[in-house]
Amino acid sequence: MKVFIAGASGLVGGNCMQHFAEQGWEVAGSYFSFQAPNTVYYNTLVPDDGNNFDVKKFKPDVIVHCGAMTHVDNCELYPDQSYQQTVQSTINLIALAKECNARFVYISTDYVFDGKQGPYTEDAPVSPLSVYARHKLEAEQMALKEIENTLVLRITNVYGDEVRGKNFIARIIEQCINKQKLTLKLPYDQYASPANAWDIARAMYVLLRDNKKGIYHIGSTDYLNRVELAMRVLKYFPDAEYDLIPMNTAELKQPAARPLLSGFVTLKFSSEYPEFMFSNVDDYLKKKTQHT
Ligand SMILES: NC(=O)c1ccc[n+]([C@@H]2O[C@H](COP(=O)([O-])OP(=O)(O)OC[C@H]3O[C@@H](n4cnc5c(N)ncnc54)[C@H](OP(=O)(O)O)[C@@H]3O)[C@@H](O)[C@H]2O)c1
Repeated sequence: MKVFIAGASGLVGGNCMQHFAEQGWEVAGSYFSFQAPNTVYYNTLVPDDGNNFDVKKFKPDVIVHCGAMTHVDNCELYPDQSYQQTVQSTINLIALAKECNARFVYISTDYVFDGKQGPYTEDAPVSPLSVYARHKLEAEQMALKEIENTLVLRITNVYGDEVRGKNFIARIIEQCINKQKLTLKLPYDQYASPANAWDIARAMYVLLRDNKKGIYHIGSTDYLNRVELAMRVLKYFPDAEYDLIPMNTAELKQPAARPLLSGFVTLKFSSEYPEFMFSNVDDYLKKKTQHT
């Protein structure tokens, strides 16, 4: 299998690139502003950029789209930029996938839901609350409509190993290891099902291998709010110095509305792959702290 991953310098794409390559697939993964090891340049917003990796020549069987404007509050403040990076990039990659006769994988989010009745199954009605969420949903629906066998993985609260270590858990770990005092103002009313990017890559691999299509919710065995998530990490660093200030979402006054009771029920994936074991936050922390 030949796979082109747009956004392989990021958390999800980087893990997919590594896992697929380890499984023997031929993978080209791209960066845009941050050149992670072994990535090629590709700007999804300028398909005819002369510096772009030649995807058509590579002839991928699959194109995986991991790029988006992921800062939810900035999307609210800069909706045009959000549209470009999330929707227009998808329009451009769908066109490329059609030219290459490639399958398409879109990475979506639990923010397509309003968080009133989570955790959610795939058939729950969508009701996005923010610019980010509306743009993710628009791109997801376009991908499903335009390319018949599109695979959509909805994910949330992703953590794991990544070159820049910028995810929520990685940042807490780094500050604890560096003995920096943490100040954490976190909502106790935003629930989700965090997933390790490595598990997302493993799940995507089996779904692609088996020619699956449509929407899959990918979570893990954890269902936590942000305070619980931080505490789960901090308990592995008994000497950590921190101020943890639990707040409700209204008090935080974030520009973008959040789904509160969100996250996923992964029954569909788990019933098709009963032998697939998801790891959880404790597994990840145990592994990370073994080496410190
Ligand atoms: N992380 C989460 O908790 C989470 C939750 C739900 C859904 N998702 C979705 O999952 C996907 C991947 O998220 P992530 O956390 O892996 O994000 P990430 O770490 O920020 O990675 C985003 C990737 O997109 C690339 N990119 C951005 N603009 C680009 C452009 N114009 N052309 C080409 N590439 C571009 C980035 O490249 P450079 O960094 O090199 O510029 C980076 O490789 C996103 O669609 C996001 O909406 C993530």
